[in-house]
Amino acid sequence: MSQEKLTGIREDFPLLKKGWIYLDNTAKAQTPRKVLDAMHRYYTEIGANVHRGLHTLSLEASKLYDEAHSKVEKFIGARKGEVAFTLNTTHAINIVASSIDWKRGDEIVTTVMEHHSNFLPWLRLRKFGVKVRVVDISDQGFINVDQLRNSLTERTKLVSVAHVSNVLGVINPLEEIREIIDESDASPYFLVDAAQSVGHVEFSVRDFSPDFLAFSGYKGLMGPTGIGGLYYRRDVWEEIEPALLGGGTPRSVDSEGYELMDPPASIEAGTPNIAGAIGLSAAVEYVSEIGIRRIEKKERELTSEILDGFERLKEGGVKVEYYGPGLDHLESRIGVISFNLGGKDPHDVARAMSSFKICLRSGHHCAMPLAMRLGITRGSVRASLHVYNTMEEIETFLTSLKEVYDLV
Ligand code: ALA
Repeated sequence: MSQEKLTGIREDFPLLKKGWIYLDNTAKAQTPRKVLDAMHRYYTEIGANVHRGLHTLSLEASKLYDEAHSKVEKFIGARKGEVAFTLNTTHAINIVASSIDWKRGDEIVTTVMEHHSNFLPWLRLRKFGVKVRVVDISDQGFINVDQLRNSLTERTKLVSVAHVSNVLGVINPLEEIREIIDESDASPYFLVDAAQSVGHVEFSVRDFSPDFLAFSGYKGLMGPTGIGGLYYRRDVWEEIEPALLGGGTPRSVDSEGYELMDPPASIEAGTPNIAGAIGLSAAVEYVSEIGIRRIEKKERELTSEILDGFERLKEGGVKVEYYGPGLDHLESRIGVISFNLGGKDPHDVARAMSSFKICLRSGHHCAMPLAMRLGITRGSVRASLHVYNTMEEIETFLTSLKEVYDLV
């Protein structure tokens, strides 16, 4: 894709023409026309179920649905049959949490920066005698890798870590964590929550060999809601059995039992989100045409401008505090910038910014343990970027913050 295409990218997004400064991409990105068109075509020209009929429309739906798997697999460096579609990251993690055969005394290692989706499914297992160890972070938001290493015991069954924090924007050292896991006696499963990295950070699952990697389609990838994915190591389902079963999952059933299909069919119980998968397929194409490196570069430039702008605001007497790696560690973070303005309530700040048509998120961002760790019980305001955001928008954001600081 040419540079002109990158500058003209906003034309692809119907909503961006309506004057919003959209800085809530960590919650959900805007959707390009290409994705909307692909889904519209499915509903108006195909509209049939997948893998359940031999008529032309069903065969066409199955073809597009299978192609969607292949495209997503290729995009994250997975091999054929290594990605199942899910509703979202939460759903994908819960499939894993409910499918592993937990024994009393098993241990899970995770971190204090996790989103509730990568925390609650593990905490719930405490009821069944599973121990959860929570690794701390440094004040700049980096995982305490030594503590993580020391948390692994012969009973550790799973290590589960976000690739990128949805609050701090920090990119976690997954290769290093993989090495620590490889050196440990217990050979635990390694689950990566890639909700905030996919579409924003260039990676292949071959880089850090997770056993599972969960992601959503509507954030970095700019696809529709209700679609996400679960990558798994191909042989993992020989050791554990999918817990969510139903239509589409068995090869054969009788009143005594069943034999399951190979994954992904054995994991995708019930009629899937077919239009969502087709939309995601178009979204992956769209993001690939732009190129992840260019997305990363653009977002890093904008992040740098925001962090620089915060320094300028401070010099002008505005009290701004932000969380996560600073300008000296730009390469270790993406464009998710959480901050507070003096002692002002984050919700008041976000509401006031909305009156300038600037969309931000406020609160604990579904990461309450992290908010407590940072000592911000009311949470923070969060600006989160995507490739279509511009320097002009960032300047308006910074100027409006100054106004809001004086107003609220
Ligand atoms: N997980 C999304 C966020 O951080 C919803 O906003």
